[in-house]
Amino acid sequence: MSRHSLTSTPALTTTLAGISLRNPVLLAAGTAGYVDEMAGAMDLSRVGGVVTKSITAESREGNQTWRIIETPRGMLNAIGLANIGAERFAAEHAPRAGEALATVIGSIAGDSPESYLEVARMFENAEHIPAVELNVSCPNVHSGTHFGDDPGALRELVQAVRPALATTKLFVKLSPIPGGPPGFTIVDLARAAIEAGADGLCIANTVPAMAVDVQTRKPRLANVTGGLSGPSVHPIAVRLVHLVHQGVARETGTPIVGVGGVMSWQDAAEFILVGASAVQMGAALFADPRSPLAVVKGLEAWVKRQGASNIGELVGAVELPGGRA
Ligand SMILES: Cc1cc2nc3c(=O)[nH]c(=O)nc-3n(C[C@H](O)[C@H](O)[C@H](O)COP(=O)(O)O)c2cc1C
Repeated sequence: MSRHSLTSTPALTTTLAGISLRNPVLLAAGTAGYVDEMAGAMDLSRVGGVVTKSITAESREGNQTWRIIETPRGMLNAIGLANIGAERFAAEHAPRAGEALATVIGSIAGDSPESYLEVARMFENAEHIPAVELNVSCPNVHSGTHFGDDPGALRELVQAVRPALATTKLFVKLSPIPGGPPGFTIVDLARAAIEAGADGLCIANTVPAMAVDVQTRKPRLANVTGGLSGPSVHPIAVRLVHLVHQGVARETGTPIVGVGGVMSWQDAAEFILVGASAVQMGAALFADPRSPLAVVKGLEAWVKRQGASNIGELVGAVELPGGRA
């Protein structure tokens, strides 16, 4: 029995850019360790997949503490892509992907096309990692984000990395608030990524944000600003998935992974209805590491109640006013 048939149910089996997942609920980059560390807290054979934390060519210490704080409806982080670098990831963690009970998806960050390419080659050589995300949208580093801000720069990056990923699917993880040239929207970025060869999109990363301690009058994060995630960002991400689905992904058949504030099965179902083929959960794992299991259960019951035989039938099935499809 393959690891995918373990605990899969026909209502939730999902194909994402040709990759079969037992269900469409994945653990988001940077919130679930390198590969399978979450297995200590939850049964990984019940989720669709795990995304590694973003790996850079060289190791990174990340930002000073405090770098994670709680906010009233979410959390603010400024980890700054702390990771052990591509070489050590390949030697110490990638080999565990074959035994992991969920599909492992890689994540790449960098500050130049060459540095992304180096990590892409590492993931292409790693066995049992069928897809990668290009993180072009981390708000907590002072380089690298411009790829996600400018459609021209993003196109060049994807074109540079694509040839190295002969057998590995490529997803681009976009920012919810691209800070690029005026006039460009997330739909323009999505189109640039798709035209340059991306197999899928991941929408979205954290929302740039800030919090201040009013007693000390100091920023609560050592990095001053950070990225907001959790319930506060969910409706923002739902709108962005909707816009990209309507604007470019539906016509090109490009799968979208919805990310941002999925705490319950209803949040996941909303993403599916506006056009996501799968969802990821990050902040929810900090509140309750087992919450993805409840989301999977709830989605399965919802699909049946909707009279569908598989969740794929509900992707993009939102009913818009005036019959707009
Ligand atoms: C502590 C923390 C670390 C993160 N690290 C990464 C990362 O390394 N790479 C990445 O693409 N996204 C990273 N993210 C963003 C998440 O993958 C996700 O896009 C974001 O948190 C929104 O989803 P959520 O509301 O479910 O957390 C991180 C988020 C958090 C909270």
